Amino acid sequence: MTVETAQLESNLFHSLIAEKKIYASNGKGVYMTIEKNGKVYDGVVDAVTGAAVGALGWADPDVPGIVNEALKKHTYSFPGFICNQQAEKLAQFYIKNCPEGVFASALWTCSGSESNENALKIIRQYQKERGRPQKIKVISRENSYHGFTLGASSISDNAISEGFKDIMIDQKELCLKMPRCFPYRDMRAGETEEQYTQRLLEVLEQMIIDNDPETVSAVIVETLPGSSIGTAVPPKGYLKGLRDICNKYDVLFMLDEVMCGTGRCNPNGKLNCWENFLAPEDAPDIQTVGKTLGSGYVTIAGVLVGPKIVNAYIGGSGLVIGAQTYHSHALNCAVSLGIQEKIIREGLTANIFKNGNLMGQKLKDALLNDSNSIVGDVRGLGGFWTVQLVKNKETKESFPYDLQVASLFNDIALQNGLNIMGLTNTDLAGSWDIALYAPSFIITEDDVDTIVDRTVKSVAQLQSDLKKAGSL
Ligand SMILES: Cc1ncc(COP(=O)(O)O)c(C=O)c1O
Repeated sequence: MTVETAQLESNLFHSLIAEKKIYASNGKGVYMTIEKNGKVYDGVVDAVTGAAVGALGWADPDVPGIVNEALKKHTYSFPGFICNQQAEKLAQFYIKNCPEGVFASALWTCSGSESNENALKIIRQYQKERGRPQKIKVISRENSYHGFTLGASSISDNAISEGFKDIMIDQKELCLKMPRCFPYRDMRAGETEEQYTQRLLEVLEQMIIDNDPETVSAVIVETLPGSSIGTAVPPKGYLKGLRDICNKYDVLFMLDEVMCGTGRCNPNGKLNCWENFLAPEDAPDIQTVGKTLGSGYVTIAGVLVGPKIVNAYIGGSGLVIGAQTYHSHALNCAVSLGIQEKIIREGLTANIFKNGNLMGQKLKDALLNDSNSIVGDVRGLGGFWTVQLVKNKETKESFPYDLQVASLFNDIALQNGLNIMGLTNTDLAGSWDIALYAPSFIITEDDVDTIVDRTVKSVAQLQSDLKKAGSL
């Protein structure tokens, strides 16, 4: 049986198969051109850079030179047998730009999912190398997103992974879930930040005790969750509390910074998001990164491995089991290094931290003061922010899932020249609408004003449309 090509407006097997896709045709700096249903939208301000990927923006003038040089130097060798200096140099660069002594080694992969997949295996082998093979359980969070491969889905918890649970790693005995950390939704009336933190930490500690600490291997969280619940900034003491519990029960502490890391939210002009919350001595034992590492020009992500883990391997078999064809890919590593060097040299992580926070503050000022507005919350940090849309601001009631309000917001925003990522997410308790903002690191104050103005216009239009349709 054949599928009539005429039935398909696209030959790409993702999203709505038969429908014509929305295409990004080109761009320059913070602005891009999008084609949708035959209409061309020029001068769209790229406020989300795909999925928080872009650091240098569109068509950076230096990147073609970096790519050209990289291509001249190296084509391919299999890293399991013969590696390349490009991967070494990128590892040295990353480790050097983290607080001293925090990481000792890096593995370069091609996606965030793959990084988390590899991290799960590194963690598993670590426990065996040190003679603790019974440590097999990992604890991550409800409503989290760590990627789409089976291992990454198994530590995730969302509507997407729900559909594949029957073929994922066991969720009752191996991949356990603790409560999400979502102050806007879950802090109780009258509860302080510290009390909320304490409540969450007590649940984790009890979970470790109930599951036999001798069998618990790692706790894994996104430092600043992105596409899952939308840049919910961890409350005071939360990440430090997780670190302390991990220390107490001899459990590894892993942070997923695929979306929030590599310069997007660093307060010191460097790379890690956790530096906002943790001192170097409380750093994660292992961390995954991606997205802005290649700024969209190459498909690169990674796993950063701390000395505790590296030492266990050295004291054990000395061998990391397994390798993939495109681990440590020379072109990816060389281009990524060139991009990261430019970012640090030009102070662009400092720029996105400053102008990203300015954007967040201006969005708050413009959107949170009207008690009748459908904007329930604006939250985030540095270059990563979320606008949460609600039906009732006072009760925080969400719009019905079927309305897909976040998609409506995407459409209206595009008409107004703004590219954001609107998502209607669900769990068993209900759904919520968020719009993510993650512009490239080069944004100026003028770009911030453009993003805020177009957002305000789009929210007003959406609110008016929902009223007209009787949905408000
Ligand atoms: C926190 C987090 N981890 C992992 C991933 C998976 O990364 P990728 O889509 O590159 O596989 C994502 C993707 O959005 C993410 O946000």
